[in-house]
Amino acid sequence: MTTTAISTTDLTDLVSGVRAAIDQHADWHGTAQLVAEELRRHLPTPDVLSAEQRLGSEDSYRSHTLYVEPDGSFSIIALVWRPGQMTRIHDHVTWCVFGVIQGVEHEDLYDADLRLIGQSDNQVGDVSGFAPPGDIHRVNNTSDQTAISIHIYGTDVTRIGSSARRFYN
Ligand SMILES: [Fe+2]
Repeated sequence: MTTTAISTTDLTDLVSGVRAAIDQHADWHGTAQLVAEELRRHLPTPDVLSAEQRLGSEDSYRSHTLYVEPDGSFSIIALVWRPGQMTRIHDHVTWCVFGVIQGVEHEDLYDADLRLIGQSDNQVGDVSGFAPPGDIHRVNNTSDQTAISIHIYGTDVTRIGSSARRFYN
């Protein structure tokens, strides 16, 4: 049997996996872990975005909505980060799962007093899930190449405008 590298730009299996995970009606933390398993299993490749989208923008990191479940129960977003681009420190309106598909994404985790309590450098294939509370973080691209990550949120982020509940300065 030969194994060929296949590009995973078809989101059908990921979408049905996430839907099945949510249908288990676990709490937010449990749902985040179940959805993370699905993203690990069906992680898209960078060509899920067009060549132009993969370039990112010089102004700030760019967000591309890949899919929104019709009932608003989840959304799948791709984020493109040029070197040095970062989010503000923020938390989230719902559970969140993310996986890196290109480059390295650095994450700083904070406690409620905004003390740095953890750091990680997430590489291609790394997937993690979390849910409020305890979800205050900042993400940035500390590498010298453009990074791309897939984020899945437990709501329709196009309707509410953002996955961030609050920003911290
Ligand atoms: Fe976030």
